[in-house]
Amino acid sequence: MSAPSAEPGESDPRASVLKRVFVAGAGIMGSGIAAQCALAGYTVTLEDVTEEIARRGLDSASRALAHAVERKKVSPADREAALGRMEIAIGLRRSDAADIVIEAATEDLAVKRRLFGELEQATRPTALLASNTSSLPITSVGQDLRDPGRLVGLHFFNPVLQMPLIELIPGHRTRPETVARVRTFAESLGKTVVTSADTPGFVTTRALAVLLNEAAWMLYEGVATREDIDTAYKLGFHHPMGPFELADLVGLDTALSILDVLWDGFRDPRYRACPLLRTMVAAKRLGRKSGEGFYAYPVPGPAP
Ligand SMILES: NC(=O)c1ccc[n+]([C@@H]2O[C@H](COP(=O)([O-])OP(=O)(O)OC[C@H]3O[C@@H](n4cnc5c(N)ncnc54)[C@H](O)[C@@H]3O)[C@@H](O)[C@H]2O)c1
Repeated sequence: MSAPSAEPGESDPRASVLKRVFVAGAGIMGSGIAAQCALAGYTVTLEDVTEEIARRGLDSASRALAHAVERKKVSPADREAALGRMEIAIGLRRSDAADIVIEAATEDLAVKRRLFGELEQATRPTALLASNTSSLPITSVGQDLRDPGRLVGLHFFNPVLQMPLIELIPGHRTRPETVARVRTFAESLGKTVVTSADTPGFVTTRALAVLLNEAAWMLYEGVATREDIDTAYKLGFHHPMGPFELADLVGLDTALSILDVLWDGFRDPRYRACPLLRTMVAAKRLGRKSGEGFYAYPVPGPAP
């Protein structure tokens, strides 16, 4: 995760035209994306629907950067500089100065369609629009836009500062110039970019959702305990986290929404969500962010 720490456009000519990033949605992903962009030298506005949530997002970004300093991936001076490049906002007004908007709002098609409709009004017509959706087809997300050529999928991974991958998903109407510029932007963050066709779940989420769901079914059927299932995947497959630890990190509401998107998109029983997930979401056991999911977390919030 060695993102360049200079001003974009000065030492990194690849990103020369983009300087200002507006991140819509300050939850687990929005806060990480904001930290990553600020670290790379961009000026970042992190926005959410209330001041409390936006402020919490900024605190998470600050903690993620502190954790990166502890791991000696980022110098204390670069952390300070990154914090100085971030501000919060409520509502979309300040997106009018953005060169690129990254939407990281709740995984819900209606929410994202409405948000992009508003963003199209609030931003300059030349600003790039990117969605961090992990499963929704980009063409559907942008179907009500007057200019869907501006919109592309830009799928970061969690925790953003630690994960080196970004999936780039051109929609059916995305202009090639948008794809090229957003790829350059993603690379300027120090990430490796893979491209996926615009199909539900893209390359990564489609497989991950099945893995998490299958683990939930095994727990539901009493095949093994959650601890033994997590241990089996970690020691048997060399996975860094067990499926329940990972589901808690992702957020159970997000994991369930993804399975429903895959079910809607493919009508294939592979993606039939385990009822246990639905019950846990109804009970607001959402994982780390709510303080309890498959496991309990004394300090609720995204993992550093
Ligand atoms: N959690 C993960 O591991 C992960 C990984 C990759 C991608 N994603 C994707 O990132 C997106 C966000 O997921 P998350 O895990 O950060 O969710 P989250 O629940 O932590 O945060 C979502 C945020 O969006 C905000 N929001 C809702 N409507 C909004 C609006 N109209 N305008 C501005 N903000 C709004 C909510 O208040 C909330 O703070 C989803 O599309 C998800 O699929 C998640």
